[in-house]
Amino acid sequence: MIKNLFDKSGQSTPRTDAVLTQIHVPSSVDATPVPAKMAGRIATAEREIEAFQDRWDRPQIEQFVAADYQLVYQSLLWTLESQPTIGQRFLEWGSGFSIVSAIAAEIGLNAIGIEAESDLLAMGRKTIQSWNVSVELVQGNFLPPGADLLSEDPMLPSLGHDVADGYQQLGLDLDDFAMVYAYPWPGEDDFLEVVFDRYAARGALLMMFCGPNDIRLWRKTS
Ligand SMILES: C[S@@+](CC[C@H](N)C(=O)[O-])C[C@H]1O[C@@H](n2cnc3c(N)ncnc32)[C@H](O)[C@@H]1O
Repeated sequence: MIKNLFDKSGQSTPRTDAVLTQIHVPSSVDATPVPAKMAGRIATAEREIEAFQDRWDRPQIEQFVAADYQLVYQSLLWTLESQPTIGQRFLEWGSGFSIVSAIAAEIGLNAIGIEAESDLLAMGRKTIQSWNVSVELVQGNFLPPGADLLSEDPMLPSLGHDVADGYQQLGLDLDDFAMVYAYPWPGEDDFLEVVFDRYAARGALLMMFCGPNDIRLWRKTS
């Protein structure tokens, strides 16, 4: 069961029957200064994404869309500074260009990305190399085995990837992670919350970028 409850002060309000509790990320987070080096890296990555998407010599990878990486950086920083975490291990579900994994590594997290598409994984490796950060990337499925059965809609874009289990390759399970980040396809946010709710560790955090100015943060509370 997933609850989205705030009291009037804007603080998160867990209820006794809540499993995921939403933590309110203040909208003022977007005023957090972004260091010039970080802003420059993000701007370069955004240009590389545009160039990748404009290439005419291969089919578009429809599942890849750029997030607002400055806002994700600001929100991650806010989270680390204001919320308790159960560890340092961070997982990007569907890491694409691995920009968020690289940001996580840059701010001190032990970052790992799982991505299904080999072309995107290659671009992710380029990001990690040019940022000179330590991120482990694997090609695989970020959905734990059996998690697809939790979806009510068999047509969701994150289902049906013909790749190996990402967790087995890492030698880890989803409940080994303190924080997970995802940019869900429209209509998939509920499903990803259900998967996190089912498989993540108690106390772990789920951050999702769901569109412009829409960052959501959840904690698994029981
Ligand atoms: C909207 S993009 C977001 C990319 C990246 N997280 C970001 O914020 O820039 C979604 C990514 O998830 C990947 N993806 C979708 N379903 C997946 C699955 N089941 N396992 C692994 N990767 C998946 C897609 O290939 C795509 O790169």
